Amino acid sequence: EKGGYDHFMLKEIYEQPNVIKDTYRGRLHANEGIIQMAGVEDNLEKFINAERIIIVACGTSWHAGLVAEYVIEEFSRIPVEVEYASEFRYRNPIISSKDVVIAISQSGETADTLAAIKLAKEKGAFVFGVCNVVGSSISRETHAGAYTHAGPEIGVASTKAFTTQITVLTMIALRLAKVKGTLSNSDFHRYLQELELIPEKVLEALSTNDIAKEIATKYKDASNCLYLGRGYNFPVALEGALKLKEISYIHAEGYPAAEMKHGPIALIDEKMPVIVIAPKQGHYDKVVSNIQEIKSRSGKIIAVVTKGDTQVKELADHVIEIPETSDALSPLITTIPLQLLSYHIAVLRDCNVDQPRNLAKSVTVE
Ligand code: M6R
Repeated sequence: EKGGYDHFMLKEIYEQPNVIKDTYRGRLHANEGIIQMAGVEDNLEKFINAERIIIVACGTSWHAGLVAEYVIEEFSRIPVEVEYASEFRYRNPIISSKDVVIAISQSGETADTLAAIKLAKEKGAFVFGVCNVVGSSISRETHAGAYTHAGPEIGVASTKAFTTQITVLTMIALRLAKVKGTLSNSDFHRYLQELELIPEKVLEALSTNDIAKEIATKYKDASNCLYLGRGYNFPVALEGALKLKEISYIHAEGYPAAEMKHGPIALIDEKMPVIVIAPKQGHYDKVVSNIQEIKSRSGKIIAVVTKGDTQVKELADHVIEIPETSDALSPLITTIPLQLLSYHIAVLRDCNVDQPRNLAKSVTVE
């Protein structure tokens, strides 16, 4: 049932090229310049008239929500807020029928997310679900939705659910941009083409497995790890850190790279591995200066870079090369080597990768 893989997590990591394709199949027609998702089409007015989109989720799904915030605001210019479902439900949030709430959940059973939806509905908001499990409580409780087509995710650490959530949310952003005219025609078409190429780029990114394993061997005994990224890759840094914590029990934190000097830089010494997401597109030069700051404090630098990079290569202790894509779609690629790195570190530490201690696949109690 693990399809020849040692763990479900690894199998699920490797399924990503296919499940991303499954998720956009029949919805994304790059050549025709069409994006079509029934749940969105039927409610297009609600989305485009929304004063705000509020995303509620927990854990990895919340990280996908953060990526979506950047993508939806950039493409469709609708203000987006992302909230932990657990905070939202208890803080008497300001919400009305002018708001659209998007709930993201792999299992569709997370108690806090479900409660947040009920509250939003009571206050008159239109609630849209992005779930993986068909017929789950959240998919039934929402007014409309779009499923991710990741297939069953068994490993407690979420991997393919994350990338398929981002795929769905990016398609929503593009669909809204099309109707609102907030992206130029050429950009719109370019993103559609680019999205269609993502599965093969994810496949290519999976070939970083060997280097990820090699790096894992060097850092498996670390007691702390820092993950840094900017822009679209800030949520990827958070997600990279969560993956490592969950399955290897190494303390890790994700930060927006620029926040480093507001605190975490104090932690950097020769024993601190810092994983920096530094693709060529995006805020490359800024990230390079962050890398220099880490280096001058003797931190160990593991950088995720675009294939052919030279500048970061000179500074970093290790580089992991990934294929180039546009900045907004890069989380779908940059997240892959981070999943592999956590996986190998956990295996080398003899951890129970698929069922880490104290964790449940779906958190149905608060
Ligand atoms: O099923 P959900 O997406 O609602 O689950 C949310 C979180 O419990 C989940 O993402 C959790 O953080 C994972 N263990 C992350 O790998």
